[in-house]
Amino acid sequence: NFPKLHDLFRDCFDIGAAVNPRTLDRAGDFIARHYNSVTAENEMKFERLHPKEDEYTFGDADSIVAFARTRGMKVRGHTLVWHNQTTDWLFQDKMGRPTDRETLLSRLKSHIDTVVKRYRDDVYCWDVVNEAVSDDGPKLLRPSKWLDIAGEDFIAKAFEFAHEADPSALLFYNDYNESYPDKREKIYKLAEDLLARGAPIHGIGLQAHWNLTRPSLDEIRQAIERYASLGLKLQITEMDVSVFDWDDRRTDLAAPTEEMVARQEERYVQMFRLFKEYRDIITGITFWGAADDYTWLDDFPVRGRKNWPFLFDAGHRPKPAFRKVAALA
Ligand code: XIL
Repeated sequence: NFPKLHDLFRDCFDIGAAVNPRTLDRAGDFIARHYNSVTAENEMKFERLHPKEDEYTFGDADSIVAFARTRGMKVRGHTLVWHNQTTDWLFQDKMGRPTDRETLLSRLKSHIDTVVKRYRDDVYCWDVVNEAVSDDGPKLLRPSKWLDIAGEDFIAKAFEFAHEADPSALLFYNDYNESYPDKREKIYKLAEDLLARGAPIHGIGLQAHWNLTRPSLDEIRQAIERYASLGLKLQITEMDVSVFDWDDRRTDLAAPTEEMVARQEERYVQMFRLFKEYRDIITGITFWGAADDYTWLDDFPVRGRKNWPFLFDAGHRPKPAFRKVAALA
């Protein structure tokens, strides 16, 4: 008999989980008990919603939205513009050659308009653009078909189209490696440019795919401070705390070691303490999953290697980390 995670932090921020039809089917009650917000793990991505120019497939996204509605949960929309999980037809003409800027932008507008309007009563915020900033090198933006064909203002355009489709939706730019200083400065610059040109951006999403050592707590704090200095709201959008360091490619563990478990608890305590400190700026904490029985990290960056990144174990029971986090609330 333990408290609900989202109740504990009711006065601070929403607590969300990435879900998919399978996790809702297997664990819907558990998810609705501890979380008060959901994000579709894949079901609102371009390739899922819009596989062909004249064909939309809303079934799975609709059922996630219906679940949230029934359970009184919020929905974060993820994502309208990304370089991954986006179908080729979008960037091509009928002959398979690259399309032109005007066509791409008009397809983008039509996609955003259709999707954002369909979910305007349920989706209160959107990750409008995901992962457009480059990880290394001097260039601000990563190479992509969006950039090649439309030029760098595909980003501002996406925000404008989303705002036109639903003026009340909160619009986020979302990215990973968001707390490392080099990338942080690029994301800052991108958001600053968007604000300077009057684009309707309201927040920055920190994906927060973190591990036991990186990023450091100081780096996370500095990222929060830096982004917040733009006057934008922040959300933690895809949190998981891997028990493996990035370059640890071991595949032989059947369970996390005692040391991993202890360090993960400590990390969660430090992070939630920090999030609480910034509760006026951070409006939501979403985990990229709900419990250790399923996480995308089971296939990333090492395929088929189990990971245990959450506050709940594979049987949906609270881990000791949950109790320690709960004690902070
Ligand atoms: C991941 C999903 O979890 C996987 O199921 C899918 O195969 C690939 O995408 N950053 C994001 C998310 O913004 O959309 C990604 O989700 C994880 C990294």
